[in-house]
Amino acid sequence: MGSNPYPLFLFLLIHYFLAVGAAAGSRSAKAPFVGVNIGTDLSNLLSPADIAAFLKAQQIQHVRLYDADSGILSALAGAGVSVALGVPNDQLIALGSSNASAAAWVARHILPFDPDTPISAVAVGDEVPTAVPNALPVLLPALRSLSAALAAANLSSIPVSTPLPFSVILDPFPPSQAYFNQTLASAFLLPLLQFLNDTGAPLMLNLYPYYAFMQSRGAVPLDNALFRPLAPALEEVDPNTLLHYTNVLDAMVDAAYVSMRNLNFSTVPVLITETGWPHNGARRDEPHATPDLASTYNSNLIRHVFGRTGTPMRPEATPSVYIYELFDEDLRPGPVSEASWGLFYGNGTAVYLLRSTGAGGFLANDTTDRTYCMAAEGADRRSLQAALDWACGPGRANCSDLQPGESCYLPNDVRDHASYAFDSYYQSQSKAAGSCYFQGIAMITTTDPSHGNCIFPGSKQMNMTSEGSNATETSKAGIPPRLRLTEQNNNIVFMILNMILVVSVSTMRL
Ligand SMILES: *[C@@H]1O[C@H](CO)[C@@H](O)[C@H](O)[C@H]1NC(C)=O
Ligand SMILES: *[C@@H]1O[C@H](CO)[C@@H](O)[C@H](O)[C@H]1NC(C)=O
Ligand SMILES: *[C@@H]1O[C@H](CO)[C@@H](O)[C@H](O)[C@H]1NC(C)=O
Ligand SMILES: *[C@@H]1O[C@H](CO)[C@@H](O)[C@H](O)[C@H]1NC(C)=O
Ligand SMILES: *[C@@H]1O[C@H](CO)[C@@H](O)[C@H](O)[C@H]1NC(C)=O
Ligand SMILES: *[C@@H]1O[C@H](CO)[C@@H](O)[C@H](O)[C@H]1NC(C)=O
Ligand SMILES: *[C@@H]1O[C@H](CO)[C@@H](O)[C@H](O)[C@H]1NC(C)=O
Ligand SMILES: *[C@@H]1O[C@H](CO)[C@@H](O)[C@H](O)[C@H]1NC(C)=O
Ligand SMILES: *[C@@H]1O[C@H](CO)[C@@H](O)[C@H](O)[C@H]1NC(C)=O
Ligand SMILES: *[C@@H]1O[C@H](CO)[C@@H](O)[C@H](O)[C@H]1NC(C)=O
Repeated sequence: MGSNPYPLFLFLLIHYFLAVGAAAGSRSAKAPFVGVNIGTDLSNLLSPADIAAFLKAQQIQHVRLYDADSGILSALAGAGVSVALGVPNDQLIALGSSNASAAAWVARHILPFDPDTPISAVAVGDEVPTAVPNALPVLLPALRSLSAALAAANLSSIPVSTPLPFSVILDPFPPSQAYFNQTLASAFLLPLLQFLNDTGAPLMLNLYPYYAFMQSRGAVPLDNALFRPLAPALEEVDPNTLLHYTNVLDAMVDAAYVSMRNLNFSTVPVLITETGWPHNGARRDEPHATPDLASTYNSNLIRHVFGRTGTPMRPEATPSVYIYELFDEDLRPGPVSEASWGLFYGNGTAVYLLRSTGAGGFLANDTTDRTYCMAAEGADRRSLQAALDWACGPGRANCSDLQPGESCYLPNDVRDHASYAFDSYYQSQSKAAGSCYFQGIAMITTTDPSHGNCIFPGSKQMNMTSEGSNATETSKAGIPPRLRLTEQNNNIVFMILNMILVVSVSTMRL
């Protein structure tokens, strides 16, 4: 591969235009949305009225509730927020064994509120096959009786489905080889899919690239889990379809499509009822549960959804997602991370800033695009020196502040100098996709690495833009602007040259 870099580059070009074309072609389809899950295991949950005001202020228009809390449902009347309404697992037996109780449930939890509080879906149970396997036999009856009760109330447009854990799909990587757990398939999944197909309801899935990354023990690259750009040679390639997977979430969705297709259902859409990344965890067990990585995952997720590029297998279909979750649930038992999945603390203070400029105004606080590029932890000094030399040389990054006597000369350490040079290059490329890569030894951070008199380029630029310059408008929807493609050549060539030393095309493993 190293002897002939051009085909790879051509491939990139073609791939790029395909991606742009697909995005443009899908504009007419129903727009995917990003919503949030609202769990209520908090010691100081905001009042229903405050939650409604908070959602409005943050421009959040889609939420999923685990329980049909009548206080929140009525407070949301007229707030312009659609609700995916949950049925807790402990109500399945009642609903699955009597049509009358399903009718009563609809009469009590939906009719008083809809349409002032629009109900977008009913999510019956949560991860029933793993959480309460003995309730599995009543799950389908519960879906059917709720669906019938909704139809009787003229509300058959509200889809009824059940959020499943990803573990019902076996051998998910590469996606083309995925299949449903056979034990569950005939008794449960086949009739479920028939029901979903008949009623036009989506397959609801809780998808956590975080856990896929954690459990893979290094087989899944962190960048792939975080939607960070990878060098093409590091992208996961499905050997059967030759599709490239730039992120784990897309691979999970395609694994679901393949599993459904194996049961002859090829048109049931996927709705991602949960996905997210924890911002805190026990440092030894979950070192990747940090605000920086949580912000990276959720920001990139939002951009990915609004970019509407679908998945490699179905570019025309971009699943909507509910982020897990709106508030930290401090009362949740278990490991530290359990209580640390929120975008906000229970009092409404943001845990970290999201960066999804151009994503259609989801989250009002989400207006900063304050990212920096710096040397990754654990990168070895020789690679850092080589990348530093490249950035300040052929990369034409402005490294004048690294000269002896200048503001960022001290500490005179290759790691510090490389960080400055990486950020200088990254900012000079307007933070284009792939410009904070340096063969994997650079990482994007939301923490300003400036120290003392040494102001990093990203920090300087921010103050320029806050005065109204249009110079650093970020790429809309995660697709690099056309013009920047040629500017990236240098970096791509640099990557290719270095790949000769290090990598060969990797296939999916897990
Ligand atoms: C419940 O309603 C469904 C659909 O209308 C019907 O097929 C089923 O027989 C009913 N079950 C009972 C126990 O009445
Ligand atoms: C359902 O809708 C039909 C036609 O729109 C209407 O005639 C009927 O009264 C409605 N039934 C209920 C229970 O609202
Ligand atoms: C398949 O599902 C069954 C029933 O839930 C479970 O006991 C079994 O462990 C699953 N198989 C695999 C390989 O996960
Ligand atoms: C699923 O629904 C589609 C139409 O939406 C239909 O064409 C197809 O035959 C259905 N598949 C099955 C297996 O029922
Ligand atoms: C899917 O369709 C094929 C061809 O019609 C058939 O042979 C196969 O049994 C079907 N699979 C299932 C699970 O229904
Ligand atoms: C909100 O809660 C967080 C975490 O407990 C705390 O750090 C922060 O100071 C609180 N903010 C306000 C405005 O009380
Ligand atoms: C979020 O926005 C609110 C209202 O605009 C503001 O009061 C608050 O300080 C912001 N929080 C952060 C973390 O920027
Ligand atoms: C390079 O950076 C220095 C210090 O930040 C600045 O004074 C100089 O104008 C920059 N040079 C160019 C060509 O932008
Ligand atoms: C940028 O602006 C912030 C807030 O206005 C200020 O604290 C910071 O020092 C400024 N940075 C530079 C490089 O001027
Ligand atoms: C930014 O660009 C838009 C259109 O290109 C222009 O209308 C607007 O005035 C510019 N804003 C500033 C602050 O330069």
